[in-house]
Amino acid sequence: MNLVFLGPPGVGKGTQAAQVAREMGLAHVATGDILRAAVKEGTKTGLEAKGYMDAGKLVPDEVVNRLVRERLEKKDAEKGLLFDGYPRTGAQAASLDGTLKELGRRVEMVFDFQAPDGVLVERISGRRTCGKCQASYHVKFKASSKGDACEKCGGALVQRSDDRPETVKARLEVYRKDTAGVGEHYRKTGTYAAIDANRPIEAISADVLGRAKRLS
Ligand code: AP5
Repeated sequence: MNLVFLGPPGVGKGTQAAQVAREMGLAHVATGDILRAAVKEGTKTGLEAKGYMDAGKLVPDEVVNRLVRERLEKKDAEKGLLFDGYPRTGAQAASLDGTLKELGRRVEMVFDFQAPDGVLVERISGRRTCGKCQASYHVKFKASSKGDACEKCGGALVQRSDDRPETVKARLEVYRKDTAGVGEHYRKTGTYAAIDANRPIEAISADVLGRAKRLS
């Protein structure tokens, strides 16, 4: 099974994707995580991507599409995929459709997470991420039991560099301009579900998992 999680910055895609991928046995393909890993490693792609990410802009389609195609060559991709934050433009959606078709696969369901801007800003401003293993927390809604350290690996919790207020504003504008229309592409294919993400984490997980399990 192949699923896509769409939605604006901070809506909770990554939080839900980690849990749904684990429970459904899918490979979690988060382009933001792949790009941050490339930046951390200082690869050529990472160096190119960093400027776009720090400015809250989208990394060019050809770079992201290539990273996704490379990711799909890994062994664990065979068990099924959960795309988190990809596709984000019409060109990325066309590339994903084409790549999956070549593999004899398709997107079975798209979950489009939605919440008011005030909720997104509150979630982003309180997000803390483990600098070592990238686990995600929130100072109010999902606090680490170890304070400023990660529950899983003990790494220090930090704020993402693109979670500064001025960058968040740019990311929200880019989402409205370039990404909000991607849902429309899937709505036409009949594989689209809008998800009310202005609910507690557990209520959203139960809703999404229930829908995903009915597909399998
Ligand atoms: P990316 O990393 O994908 O960021 P994003 O889409 O902006 O999404 P976020 O990671 O900010 O939010 P999320 O929806 O995953 O929320 P989360 O679960 O963390 O992309 C970063 C950058 O990389 C982009 O700006 C771009 O430059 C580049 N990029 C990535 N993909 C690209 C692509 N395809 N094409 C081009 N460029 C690309 O939750 C947020 C916080 O809220 C957390 O603290 C969490 O604990 C908390 N929370 C979650 N759910 C709830 C809830 N229900 N109630 C209360 N708190 C909650």
